[in-house]
Amino acid sequence: MNKITAAITAVGAYVPEFVLSNQVLESMVETNDEWITSRTGIKERRLLKEKGKGTSFMAIKAAQDLISKSKINPEEIDLVIMATATPDMPVAATGVYVATQIGAVNAFAYDLQAACSSFLYGMSNAAAYIESGRYKKVLLIGADKMSSIIDYTDRATCIIFGDGAGAVLFEPNFEGLGLQDEILKSDGIGREYLKIDAGGSILPPSKETVENGQHFVFQDGKTVFKYAVSGMADVSEKIMERNNLTKDDVNWLIAHQANKRIIDATSSRMGLDEDKVLINIHRYGNTTSATLPLLLSDFEDKFKKGDNLIFAAFGGGFTWGSIYLKWAYNKQ
Ligand code: UT7
Repeated sequence: MNKITAAITAVGAYVPEFVLSNQVLESMVETNDEWITSRTGIKERRLLKEKGKGTSFMAIKAAQDLISKSKINPEEIDLVIMATATPDMPVAATGVYVATQIGAVNAFAYDLQAACSSFLYGMSNAAAYIESGRYKKVLLIGADKMSSIIDYTDRATCIIFGDGAGAVLFEPNFEGLGLQDEILKSDGIGREYLKIDAGGSILPPSKETVENGQHFVFQDGKTVFKYAVSGMADVSEKIMERNNLTKDDVNWLIAHQANKRIIDATSSRMGLDEDKVLINIHRYGNTTSATLPLLLSDFEDKFKKGDNLIFAAFGGGFTWGSIYLKWAYNKQ
């Protein structure tokens, strides 16, 4: 029997309807469309505004989109991995609730938190379960309600982030398609530069932490930018090298959408032509765990069976990495 590889066989997505444009942000904080566009590439982002709805709401919608398009029976799903940095609640895993709500009643589920690299790490997890031969259908969802942890008076962060969700199904493949190689990295030096100070075990919530705004994301953008540029480019170049991929062999770069300039730096180190670099940051901003599956969903029509995709991400922690995957199907 051929070796089992782990292939993506279906995708789904969801973004909320509410659009927050650069123009509206101009009336909220001291910023302007020109600055945001030239420094980040973002034009607008989606926000989940409805009260009482959390990350699970979007994750369920993305999973349902995948289920209805692929016509799989949710009862056949073995495992749901929920990649998110903004779970519904600190305790009671969001993925468990999502699995039950989508009818994946035979699955077990858990959450995976690695900031903006959550989905990339989740791909590694999902693939390993499939390659082991133990499970046949692993649903990986990346979803974040970043608006729940953003201070909309802080121009350093509120212009960047948005809400959204995407989902992929991993299944066994016997033609050698699917995940080929991965380089995953982390470095605790990053914890000072991108974080939420309060609400965890070091600094539990209190009146003071709320008054001091310590439940919002803090980012030292310049420092994170520097590490992101070198981190993402290094691993992407290395994964090409060790798989003997030339720039012509790579069909698509699926890079975390944090800043268009970081993506440009990565693709230029890889020597890729612009038309191979998939971009939707202008529409959604940085949706953290959802950027990679939202790209897959938006550009699914373009992918052909056998195409070489390089995934790359960089996030808080720091966490980063690159994955080489062969696409497994032509969209009907
Ligand atoms: O996804 C997880 C990983 N995160 C990332 O990868 C994000 C990495 N960082 C970045 O993308 C960029 O650092 C930012 C987009 C966050 C900021 O861009 P930057 O080019 O690094 O800007 P900066 O922070 O160095 O600020 C440049 C100038 C400053 O003014 P002075 O000191 O030069 O007079 C800021 O005060 O721009 C000013 N500025 C703004 N101006 C208008 C900062 N934010 C804004 C703003 N609108 N929103």
